Amino acid sequence: MRIVIAGTGYVGLVSGTCLAAKGHNVICIDIKPSIVANINKAIPPIYEEGLEALLQQVITSGHLKAGVDLQVALTDAEGVIIAVGTPNNTQGTIDLTYVLACAREIGAYIKKVDRFLPVIVKSTVVPGTTDTAIKNEIEQASGKKLGQFGLGMNPEFLREGKAVSDFMEPDRIVLGYEDEGTLAFLQALYAPWGCEKLAVNTRTAELIKYTNNALLATQISAVNEIANLAAAMGGIDVQDVMRGVYLDKRWNPSIDGQRVNPEILAYLVPGCGFGGSCFPKDVQALHAHGDQLGLPMAMMKAVLSVNDTQPLEVIAGLKKVVGDLAGQRCLVLGLAFKPETDDVRESASLRIISALLDHKAQVSAHDPVAVKNFATALGPRSNGITYVSDWKSAAATAEVIIIATKWPEYSALSTLGLQGKIIFDARRLLKKEDLPFARYLSIGYNGHATRSPLKVR
Ligand code: UGA
Repeated sequence: MRIVIAGTGYVGLVSGTCLAAKGHNVICIDIKPSIVANINKAIPPIYEEGLEALLQQVITSGHLKAGVDLQVALTDAEGVIIAVGTPNNTQGTIDLTYVLACAREIGAYIKKVDRFLPVIVKSTVVPGTTDTAIKNEIEQASGKKLGQFGLGMNPEFLREGKAVSDFMEPDRIVLGYEDEGTLAFLQALYAPWGCEKLAVNTRTAELIKYTNNALLATQISAVNEIANLAAAMGGIDVQDVMRGVYLDKRWNPSIDGQRVNPEILAYLVPGCGFGGSCFPKDVQALHAHGDQLGLPMAMMKAVLSVNDTQPLEVIAGLKKVVGDLAGQRCLVLGLAFKPETDDVRESASLRIISALLDHKAQVSAHDPVAVKNFATALGPRSNGITYVSDWKSAAATAEVIIIATKWPEYSALSTLGLQGKIIFDARRLLKKEDLPFARYLSIGYNGHATRSPLKVR
């Protein structure tokens, strides 16, 4: 099928590349000529595992092209996908400027032609946006009514760093539609995928996307709140508490006597809070949306409020042990919001390092790929940090070591035999038993050992 995708961010480009890899003919549109030129040379503007190789393949086969002119690209298109950004504005509601501008331009094209064109929204928009604001914009710009053009909403569930494999092997595909012509288009578009497909109206599709992220974020904040209680009590390691919880078969079923260890358990790990471009923005947008409808959304508010202060639990935990942090040599390991990415948006490390600087600690920091982005995000305060490339040598001279991102390489900390350091493992990368030579602290463990250590039989 001939498809146009507007927007070449990580959603638009990954979707376009994967659809092209399944045999569709895709034109990706971006307003920035430099991005378009690079895509046509198979150079992706973002790093995503497997993207460059797949892009190379579809550019070479001629299944994907990039361009700057949406109107021209639409000439031959059987359908168009909107995948432009939806940032949050200062009130926490989502900013539809780019989505609506794109809908308007598509509407202007629909006005000129006498054929049915399905318009699919892939950008994350709050429930009720596609069938109101976006529909209205297309109707106004085209002078036509829904039915003369098609309208759908097809949310993405792509994790950064795993976006290509998440697109190629999805758990399910949600086909939000407002008319039968669009449903038929979406079914044909995703015919190469054998997973379960759920056809629903567009506002249900939109709420599925938000609910998915909101529930994962809720789990994280709930576990973090319990962890903070455990640290306040002392004599408990919340990790032992969670091990008891993970053995409930509703979280972790067993098949033929073997635990399945489902991926959901990776969202029940006590830590210094969630970040990234999705969880914080989506929970905030859902909360603001409820507010506009007169619903207080108390749960979403609490999820955000726990997450907002969670990075500071690291500082509070350290202060209880160290006392004054002024002048302490603190090494922060990990700046990205999660491993396998150079993205630092809403990263807990931004808050942790800012607080350490506020306390006049001597801060050094390491990340395998995110230093440049981090320095830009922190701004002038970044001058107060020493970025190190050899974290193992830096660890030897630091007094306090904080693991803020779960990069696997930091697990080598347990092999360095460093004596007398304070190690605050804010992501539960290590086991305290592996660091007998250090003072181990974590979210949910204030360092006061229990008399009766965990024994599993
Ligand atoms: C998330 C969702 O997982 C995707 O399904 C969704 O498509 C995407 O948002 C989106 O809306 O586009 P992503 O933001 O890439 O994907 O990151 P995750 O791997 O889910 O992690 C999010 C954050 O939660 C990270 O900061 C991570 O460190 C944190 N986290 C995760 C915790 O703080 N505790 C945990 O137990 C697990």
